[in-house]
Amino acid sequence: MKSATFLTTSREETVSLGTQLGRLCEAGDVLLLFGELGAGKTSLIQGVASGLDVGEYTFSPSFVLVREYQGRLVLYHMDFYRMESVEEVADLGIDDYLYGDGVCAVEWADRGVGLLPEKHLHIELQYVPNADQSRQVQVYACGEHYERLLQKLTAKEAGEWN
Ligand SMILES: Nc1ncnc2c1ncn2[C@@H]1O[C@H](COP(=O)(O)OP(=O)(O)OP(=O)(O)O)[C@@H](O)[C@H]1O
Ligand SMILES: [Mg+2]
Repeated sequence: MKSATFLTTSREETVSLGTQLGRLCEAGDVLLLFGELGAGKTSLIQGVASGLDVGEYTFSPSFVLVREYQGRLVLYHMDFYRMESVEEVADLGIDDYLYGDGVCAVEWADRGVGLLPEKHLHIELQYVPNADQSRQVQVYACGEHYERLLQKLTAKEAGEWN
């Protein structure tokens, strides 16, 4: 499966979608998140943390660029919001995280164009007109491994495995 669209109607539902995803994540997985301010990127990643059995997730202020959480796997939460150029992102030296054994979740991934792995799960969150608490979450699998991951996520969300 190459792409799927989910609709969440509350923050909790976005967190819960992230939790299902976190449960399915494997070592080395890279999740790239896109979407405007307040679209729900951090909320989804909070769910991923919980699905990876991270004990305590503390909200990261946006000036912290890489946050590390210990769970079933290590979760690296990166936020490129304050990055003003691709060079600035390059200077962070994040390849060890991206190509390591943890799970990387990157907010504002569009600011790291060309520096992020080609194989990844692309997650785009969008506001839904006239529905304050709703978000459309479009997920695209880039690479076969992520196609399988997305297939499982879709099956879980459809309740087939519950
Ligand atoms: N369906 C929904 N899913 C996620 N968040 C929602 C939803 N409906 C309303 N919200 C609200 O939208 C906000 C989402 O905030 P969050 O920090 O997750 O977004 P973000 O994309 O990380 O923003 P930023 O770009 O500032 O980092 C929260 O205040 C949350 O309560
Ligand atoms: Mg955020």
